[in-house]
Amino acid sequence: MRGGAGYQFDQDDSWYHPWYNFKYWGKRAWAGFIAVVVLIIVIVIIVAVEVTKNNAYPDYTQLSYSLADTYSGSTFFDNFDYFTGYDPTEGFVHYVPEAQATSLNLTYASSSSAVLRVDTSVGPDSNPNASTGRFSVRVSSKTQYGLDTLFIFDVIHSPLGCGTWPALWLTDPSNWPYNGEIDVMEAVNVVSSTYNQMTLHTTSGCSMGVKRKETGKSLTTSCVNTTDDNAGCGVDAGSTTFGADFNSAGGGILAMELRSAGIRMWQFGRSSIPADVTSGTPDPSTWGEATADFPSTDCNIGNHFKNQSIIANIDLCGSWAGATSVFSENCSGTCTDYVANNNGSFADAYWEFGAFKVYSAS
Ligand SMILES: *[C@@H]1O[C@H](CO)[C@@H](O)[C@H](O)[C@H]1NC(C)=O
Ligand SMILES: *[C@@H]1O[C@H](CO)[C@@H](O)[C@H](O)[C@H]1NC(C)=O
Ligand SMILES: *[C@@H]1O[C@H](CO)[C@@H](O)[C@H](O)[C@H]1NC(C)=O
Ligand SMILES: *[C@@H]1O[C@H](CO)[C@@H](O)[C@H](O)[C@H]1NC(C)=O
Ligand SMILES: *[C@@H]1O[C@H](CO)[C@@H](O)[C@H](O)[C@H]1NC(C)=O
Ligand SMILES: *[C@@H]1O[C@H](CO)[C@@H](O)[C@H](O)[C@H]1NC(C)=O
Repeated sequence: MRGGAGYQFDQDDSWYHPWYNFKYWGKRAWAGFIAVVVLIIVIVIIVAVEVTKNNAYPDYTQLSYSLADTYSGSTFFDNFDYFTGYDPTEGFVHYVPEAQATSLNLTYASSSSAVLRVDTSVGPDSNPNASTGRFSVRVSSKTQYGLDTLFIFDVIHSPLGCGTWPALWLTDPSNWPYNGEIDVMEAVNVVSSTYNQMTLHTTSGCSMGVKRKETGKSLTTSCVNTTDDNAGCGVDAGSTTFGADFNSAGGGILAMELRSAGIRMWQFGRSSIPADVTSGTPDPSTWGEATADFPSTDCNIGNHFKNQSIIANIDLCGSWAGATSVFSENCSGTCTDYVANNNGSFADAYWEFGAFKVYSAS
């Protein structure tokens, strides 16, 4: 009853006890007010933290590079080891040792370029035939590289053809995925719905779901080998970056900078190579936005990428090119039947490289 009376009293007096005048607030009103203020502060802090996190971006301040190694001319392949083991990516391929690669002319270097190709000589009637896989080559540089390194790869021709899975990439072959993998050029078959894919592969703790500055299109953001069937964090570099269109334009330059702030890659067509690259004094700070940007924001680059060898290979079929849904996009039958029986179809399955130049920052 008293409550009722009190309520009646408040009602009657509300015209001179307005709710917004805190002088007349009770304990409950104050508690509610404080709760609302605390809530607003918490929301403001969370939003501020999120905005800061989303805007976080490393400092790619200019580094000063000088030439460390050149791979060029008729001795190009002398700086590489020929991988001969069972293909780690389960391809339908026999990687041949140096002597066999030379005698089959699968690797060939002249003063102007170096060629690495898939065998075309073994047909269905040859003995032995290619029913257990076709001859190809995988080479890895004897020298390994770490942070503060800038790689300039001159690529004149990229391999294409049904069943092919070519790549120009870097890893520490004996410590995969612990020391990371950096794919600079990679595609499959005749180059279909995606073009050149620039990708990182790592152990856990490396994501690219952060602010990036790149012209390419991000495909997946986890670089960790156990997610997305080991697809890695890939960026599609866009049309004319691999295959027939890339080749008919004379290829181009692939630049990759490895530093603790992040990993960035640029792809320049033959007709738009920066003058400082041509003159041998490359300065990425003048090149504008990268094609693919892998900042260190949510990935400790120094911990994830060590002892990187440069690798060039052409795999056949395997887990990507040979996957039925991928192969059947542009090619018919099964990948392994195709590779075993169509030796005449691998004429375009070759890399042709100009020089590789490696610069290091002091
Ligand atoms: C080996 O391949 C290169 C590059 O395609 C070619 O110029 C050369 O004539 C070939 N050599 C032989 C012996 O077939
Ligand atoms: C395919 O292999 C056969 C041998 O079985 C050979 O005669 C032919 O020249 C090869 N084709 C090419 C394009 O090398
Ligand atoms: C390929 O060689 C294997 C082993 O010599 C043989 O069994 C098979 O029939 C051959 N394939 C063709 C298509 O001739
Ligand atoms: C391959 O197939 C894809 C998907 O159907 C298509 O977009 C692309 O144009 C094809 N590429 C070629 C070279 O035929
Ligand atoms: C991923 O890397 C781990 C080591 O961190 C390894 O044990 C595992 O086999 C790898 N998985 C794939 C799918 O590559
Ligand atoms: C890198 O290679 C050097 C020498 O080859 C070796 O001593 C070192 O342990 C390697 N580092 C890692 C992280 O594997």
